[in-house]
Amino acid sequence: MSTAPLTIRPMQLADVDAVAALNLAATAYPWSPGQFIDSLQSHDCHLLVAGEQLLGFMVLQHSCGESCLLNIAIHPDFHQRGYAHFLLSQGLQRCIGANSSQCYLEVRASNTAAIALYFKTGFEEVGLRKNYYPAVQGREHAKIMIKKLPGSAGDKT
Ligand SMILES: CC(C)(COP(=O)(O)OP(=O)(O)OC[C@H]1O[C@@H](n2cnc3c(N)ncnc32)[C@H](O)[C@@H]1OP(=O)(O)O)[C@@H](O)C(=O)NCCC(=O)NCCS
Repeated sequence: MSTAPLTIRPMQLADVDAVAALNLAATAYPWSPGQFIDSLQSHDCHLLVAGEQLLGFMVLQHSCGESCLLNIAIHPDFHQRGYAHFLLSQGLQRCIGANSSQCYLEVRASNTAAIALYFKTGFEEVGLRKNYYPAVQGREHAKIMIKKLPGSAGDKT
């Protein structure tokens, strides 16, 4: 990999093919290019890069005083180096900047890597949507997780 410093920059339309390819490589349940294009119009979309190397992406939604992590992935060649934790931590700062009192997310109950990432980043599990996601076989539950943000009533930091 390039020795260029890690940078977070806004996702642009020209990035969508590379981002969709990364997402396809990272998960069995990727977003389509069209979903990223739609997100560019209405959500807060950022990339983690090292020079020209795309390492990962994050899509946040800020609305009505709260934020939602809609998607995050790191290219599998660069897993378990702390990149998702770094990207998500920066994303939470963006949520605070958007005056959100909390950030919530939904995650497949089978996605142990992501769930561990969210616990490490300070999210708590607050609910379960049964049979929420289509799965390779049948359906699977979604865990709902929330992190209270500094300044909010439920903040524990
Ligand atoms: C989930 C994902 C983003 C984590 O990215 P990553 O850069 O490898 O994660 P990090 O290196 O920042 O790890 C941070 C923490 O997450 C947890 N974690 C990450 N990968 C893990 C794994 N394979 N198994 C268990 N825990 C894991 C650990 O708690 C880790 O902290 P530690 O290194 O102190 O143990 C990555 O696996 C991915 O892109 N998955 C596919 C897309 C996806 O599922 N996105 C979530 C949609 S809800």
